[in-house]
Amino acid sequence: NWTMENFIDTEINRIRTIVGPTAEVIGAVSGGVDSTVAAKLMKEAIGNRFHAIMVDNGVLRMNEAENVKKNLGEGLGINLTVIDASEEFLTKLKGVTDPEKKRKIIGNTFIHVFEREAERIKPKDGDEIEFLLQGTLYPDVIESISFKGPSQTIKTHHNVGGLLDNMKLKLIEPLRELFKDEVRHLGELLGIPHDLVWRHPFPGPGIAIRVLGEVTKEQVAIARKADYIYIEEIVNAGLYDKISQAFACLLPVKSVGVMGDQRTYEQVIALRAIETTDFMTADWFPFEHGFLKKVASRIVNEVDGVARVTYDITSKPPATVEWE
Ligand code: XMP
Repeated sequence: NWTMENFIDTEINRIRTIVGPTAEVIGAVSGGVDSTVAAKLMKEAIGNRFHAIMVDNGVLRMNEAENVKKNLGEGLGINLTVIDASEEFLTKLKGVTDPEKKRKIIGNTFIHVFEREAERIKPKDGDEIEFLLQGTLYPDVIESISFKGPSQTIKTHHNVGGLLDNMKLKLIEPLRELFKDEVRHLGELLGIPHDLVWRHPFPGPGIAIRVLGEVTKEQVAIARKADYIYIEEIVNAGLYDKISQAFACLLPVKSVGVMGDQRTYEQVIALRAIETTDFMTADWFPFEHGFLKKVASRIVNEVDGVARVTYDITSKPPATVEWE
């Protein structure tokens, strides 16, 4: 009979058979649930012959690269390399305001950086990298079958297909038969910490699609800090696990405010929090007023460049979860 414990043993054996005794596997990790669980499974199956790569694209959440180093590298013992490519990404994003262009640039730059790193790893230990790990879930498999072409995709997600076209790698997808809740269960059985297993999803293009308009280092820093405060308050209020996804967006709009006896003229932060089961439809989360008041006051007081905070009370549809 099918149990998750059996799945782990079967899958580890399957991975060992596919990869063989010497080949190496490479895979990207993001700090999210899927890539972490997939990476941990690989580590259990083939140890350091699995090479995890984390690309810092300059639009990650606060302290994300360090946290991944700590949690996946030190905590889970995964053979991990973190690459700081933030300048490269931010340079390519310069002057770009269109959301889909941002996604394409980030997707393509990611592929470029990842390939470069794969080349660099190769000669180090003689054996060839033959496989690419992907944390594809069953719903991703279904989606990529049913949505073909830009006319039917509302937003272009998962860009990693390009990696396979360019590098001569074989794909390995240990999670492709699992749903999200099963991946979380698997993660817990593999000893991945609760906070990591129950983390909200975070989009590949990151804060770049949460800084509306042009993405600059300064704008990212403002959005990142506001988001950090917001999530910290959500966790402190015991609400994190009740919410499906929450984040702050920085709007490219200036608004007048007053601080002490000074008139200010600074940007606006929009807070979003949603409840959903499938992310196809979503409701905004009904925070207590006192909670919103506290977050708004902290953000305006602690984040330079913000004069006003708003809360997004739009459902999906008609709005999407993200603002871009
Ligand atoms: P939307 O905004 O389409 O978001 O209602 C639904 C879910 O998808 C995430 N999302 C993305 N994830 N790359 C990703 O990896 C993307 O370009 C992207 N756009 C949206 C969003 O965060 C939400 O969970």
